[in-house]
Amino acid sequence: MKWSPEYATGVPEIDEQHQSLFEWFDQLDHAAADHRMMTATYTLTRLMQYTRVHFAAEEALMTRIAYPEREAHRAEHETFRLRLRELQTAAMTQDIAVATISLLRDWLIKHITISDMKYAAFSKSLTPKATKPAR
Ligand SMILES: [Fe+2]
Ligand SMILES: [Fe+2]
Repeated sequence: MKWSPEYATGVPEIDEQHQSLFEWFDQLDHAAADHRMMTATYTLTRLMQYTRVHFAAEEALMTRIAYPEREAHRAEHETFRLRLRELQTAAMTQDIAVATISLLRDWLIKHITISDMKYAAFSKSLTPKATKPAR
């Protein structure tokens, strides 16, 4: 499944990162489907690194705008990080299942379209000055 404009939050930096996450997922999907497990394991590691960068960017933004639901949002990120770690551990002894990748991607889509949209809407409701990084 590809990134689609309906997943756009309207925050350019975040949307670019989401698109990259979808690309990593796609690569992981292809590698796992073709049973190229070395590539799949490597791709999973890169996906995890990228997820860390992306979640950190979102969490910094939520702190900057004093988003009231940031703790609940952070907890969702933590759940996803844990699931990726579980998959990485499982990948040491068995093939990465395409079905598992699919479940994780579904989680991501739901998170973007519900939770990320919410903080993006909150951010847009603030004055442009308030969303600028603090000096
Ligand atoms: Fe996100
Ligand atoms: Fe998020």
